[in-house]
Amino acid sequence: MSAQVDLSGPALIDVIAEGLSRSFKELPARVLYDETGSRLFEEITRLPEYYPTEAERALLVDCASEVFAMSQARTLVEFGAGVQDKTGLLIEAGTSFGSLACYQPIDISSEVLVESAQSMGRVYTGLDIQPVVGDFTTYIALPESPRPRLTCFLGGTIGNLHPVERFEFFNRMGQMTGTGGYMLVGTDLLKDVERIIRAYDDSEGVTARFLLNVVDVLNSECDTNLDKDDFDYVPLWDALENRMDLRLRSRREQNFAIRDQGIRLAAGEEIRIEVSTKFTLEQVREEFESAGLQVEHQFRNDDFALTLARVG
Ligand code: AVJ
Repeated sequence: MSAQVDLSGPALIDVIAEGLSRSFKELPARVLYDETGSRLFEEITRLPEYYPTEAERALLVDCASEVFAMSQARTLVEFGAGVQDKTGLLIEAGTSFGSLACYQPIDISSEVLVESAQSMGRVYTGLDIQPVVGDFTTYIALPESPRPRLTCFLGGTIGNLHPVERFEFFNRMGQMTGTGGYMLVGTDLLKDVERIIRAYDDSEGVTARFLLNVVDVLNSECDTNLDKDDFDYVPLWDALENRMDLRLRSRREQNFAIRDQGIRLAAGEEIRIEVSTKFTLEQVREEFESAGLQVEHQFRNDDFALTLARVG
């Protein structure tokens, strides 16, 4: 099986060089998700402190059939289809409801995508599986398939985006979904801050290793020679934006170059790698509505929400 490829935008090395030349240094969260990073994230999802994965799974078990009854979706589009177990809940609901004919997983990593599409194809034999390689921060031209579409963005990954980027994402996702289609978006809910912080500062140090893996990614993408021992993982709670702000802090002054650009890290200087926003139900509704989308239903449990919206 091959995937349709639709990758646009600047190369990762240029994005990294630009992010490290700002006065407040920041990298795109995708530097976390190389092969090792994706494996470490999977390990995170199995940690007792990291509640979102289980919370969303439990919610999907409860609401997947209702989502198909409401949307009558014939094509399921999934952004960031790296982890497949939750998708299985939706696919099973869609095939037993009877409407689902086609599944289009979108992921930035073509290896992950084609491998999982092949194994999905062996399990769901009646389903037309069309993998698409693409970056969810850009518009992706989807192959033609039966309508309506249900596009889903699970895991709370929408919380990685900054507010303006979320607005743009909702707009783009609406366009990709098409009139009469539906969107399903998972969001982690605002709750006891101590519990949130523990989910990103686990006792086994897996999250710290996940962030420090970025040092290896920089070395391989940018031909630098940085040392993990020169960085600390710093998980911060940002009480103004209601989000975790995951950073690496340089233990000492470091000077290096990417392409021909000199970069200086002061002792104690921090690089923001990923934010993870926590939402209220009302906030999620407002963000959908301000992008012109009509919220049909919000499913929730104590920790997590899934919002189903219709593209008018
Ligand atoms: C995969 C983006 C949903 O924000 O909770 C977990 C990533 N980072 N621990 C999240 C993550 C550190 C995760 N998402």
